[in-house]
Amino acid sequence: MAEHLSQSELDYPFKLLEYFNGFRVSKVIFSACELGVFDLLLTSAEPLSAVHVARELSTSQDGMERLLDALVGIEILEVEQRDGTALYSSTDVANLYLAKGSAKSLHDMIIYQSQTIYPLWNNMVDAVRSVEGKNQNEKTFGLPAEEVFQAMYRSEEEMLKFMGLMNSSWVLDGHDIVTAFNLSGFRTIVDLGGCTGALAREMAKAYPSSSVVVFDLPQVVETARKHFAQENDRIDFQAGDPNTSTQPLAERLRQRAAVPHREVLRRHPGHQMSCWRSGGQTATRTNHQERFHFGHYKCHNLPMI
Ligand SMILES: C[S@@+](CC[C@H](N)C(=O)[O-])C[C@H]1O[C@@H](n2cnc3c(N)ncnc32)[C@H](O)[C@@H]1O
Repeated sequence: MAEHLSQSELDYPFKLLEYFNGFRVSKVIFSACELGVFDLLLTSAEPLSAVHVARELSTSQDGMERLLDALVGIEILEVEQRDGTALYSSTDVANLYLAKGSAKSLHDMIIYQSQTIYPLWNNMVDAVRSVEGKNQNEKTFGLPAEEVFQAMYRSEEEMLKFMGLMNSSWVLDGHDIVTAFNLSGFRTIVDLGGCTGALAREMAKAYPSSSVVVFDLPQVVETARKHFAQENDRIDFQAGDPNTSTQPLAERLRQRAAVPHREVLRRHPGHQMSCWRSGGQTATRTNHQERFHFGHYKCHNLPMI
């Protein structure tokens, strides 16, 4: 709480200094992820020297040594001395969350934070000052601020990056979110704007008797099918825009959206998930960001993107 913080910081501003320098910690992790440090250490059978890591990842030796030491400083890597050489290895946390490929990998989220969110936040002063309340896409990337999804989907590479972010968002708490409600009574569950289908897959696992549909823009559905499909997928994708599509599902969703009263089945502490019931069909919408600690949620809510 702010009043407690300001009191406890009077003798020495520990917390304030931690806040000021928070960006350095983020950048250390972002840089190591982008350079592939965690992937290399995960696949190495033994701890590696900075010289070895630098050679494998084509970086400067001095820069890599400093980066590895910073990662040791924040307890993400471990170091041991052998014959006067520092040898670095990953912690279990780095292997699980920061390297690519593990079932709980947050790698794609970090890449998006590093390459898109961080540059946008660099223009926070302008974003707050802006009387039009525009996002900073134009200033940061030279993209029109109005068309958020067009900007994010400007190339297949960018679309994949965004979809990777969305996909890894559900790694941690997708199961908790979909089981915060008992949706087992519904024959069909539609995830509107369901992107890669990550949350829909959690629903399909939790509710094996329901059919689960992801409704998203055609190019997103195509990319999801190409890059994010899983063996034995139990989810269906439908491509279209629920605002304009003439598909029966889109029309039903529009009818439901026109009903002023939303039947909120349950509000779970820390989650918001609204469900609409209609002739045996349910549309659900979640805001998983409310799961973040209040202060963090406020940060996520800043209009930078
Ligand atoms: C912020 S993302 C959320 C993705 C997903 N629900 C999740 O939480 O991981 C918003 C999603 O809405 C989709 N979307 C945006 N406009 C849409 C439209 N007009 N029709 C269908 N989907 C749309 C985007 O392609 C994207 O997948």
